[in-house]
Amino acid sequence: MSTVITNIGELAGAAEDRWLMEDAALVIDGGHIAWAGPSRRAPAADEAYDAGGRAVLPGFVDSHAHLVFAGERAEEFAARMSGRPYAAGGIRTTVERTRAASDDELRANVRRLVAEMARQGTTTVECKSGYGLTVEQEERAVRIAASLVDEVTFLGAHVVPADTDPAEYVRLVTGPMLAACAPYARFVDVFCERGAFDADQTREILTAGRAAGLVPRLHANQLGHGPGVAIAVEFDAASADHCTFLSEEDVAALAGSRTVATLLPAVEFSTRQPYPDARALIDAGADVALATDCNPGSCYSSSMAFCVALAVREMRMTPEEAVRAATEGGAKALRRTDVGHLRPGARADVLILDAPSHIHLAYRPGVPQVARVWRNGRAVEFRHGNLS
Ligand code: NIG
Ligand code: FE
Repeated sequence: MSTVITNIGELAGAAEDRWLMEDAALVIDGGHIAWAGPSRRAPAADEAYDAGGRAVLPGFVDSHAHLVFAGERAEEFAARMSGRPYAAGGIRTTVERTRAASDDELRANVRRLVAEMARQGTTTVECKSGYGLTVEQEERAVRIAASLVDEVTFLGAHVVPADTDPAEYVRLVTGPMLAACAPYARFVDVFCERGAFDADQTREILTAGRAAGLVPRLHANQLGHGPGVAIAVEFDAASADHCTFLSEEDVAALAGSRTVATLLPAVEFSTRQPYPDARALIDAGADVALATDCNPGSCYSSSMAFCVALAVREMRMTPEEAVRAATEGGAKALRRTDVGHLRPGARADVLILDAPSHIHLAYRPGVPQVARVWRNGRAVEFRHGNLS
């Protein structure tokens, strides 16, 4: 079954040499993009869809989210807005609620959020564990995530559980917990931060993860300056996420590496922190991705469009840089070549905006502008709280 999308006012990410094409057409065949080019040369297909002059983009790639959890922390957010700082310890509140939840409850939560993301144009989702913190609970989290999202990250090293000796916990994470979780995950992650895991512990956990076949990535430099980014580069990590507090050396290290700087501006919004210096990273030549970090603590937003708007307004990224970071940047952070673009051969993850240009994502913040989404060649049905 093939579909030709005609009358595309602006087509993004469909040609190697030109990110934007005007007056274009796109052909989906099965689960893949078969053709992209000028409208007048569009080939015939089994069915046609008239985009009515709208903008067509690759679906968003949300390369950083924590969706396996129970409960929420709205009170903590309200307290933050009245001046209390964000601290790593809030994670333990969600750990308690998550441990007490059934598999079905956790599965329903992930499904609900993946559907919420799809309605907003996100077609590739990464999800971490990290609210279980025992062998059984972390194994359950990665197993549930693996059945519902595209990419899974083992984050047993999210925080040291209450009343636990840190050295003993690192032994657990690098030993039986890693062994139980590795079959379900592709990445290993550590929250390298004061109040969570220090440089030595981070290196130990990434080394063990890598030996188990997982690709390193890090929560780095979120709450203050620190060694996270340097360690991410040292380990050739797929990404260093947050990057809120960077030294000049950190920027240079990222620019000289293939580690993607994944910026999470909705976290800064929700924690009243300064925004990361995207301009310095881009101008130095670093690869940049945008992601939501959707989680019940530091940022309960699943909206990539909101991240794009923040990146443009607060981080001085151009609309094109921001949308590319939310699509091809996310793909790079996940080391994926089949998503984040619409060149022939890509997975048919297509977002039709109810707008003539990608600029409208930042120009009209907070406005629902998703007209239609295809994921893997199938039209996504928008039913509140569920997804076909
Ligand atoms: O990416 N920084 C660590 N982990 C999450 C927050 C988790 C939470 O507060 O529950 C983050 O911001
Ligand atoms: Fe995170």
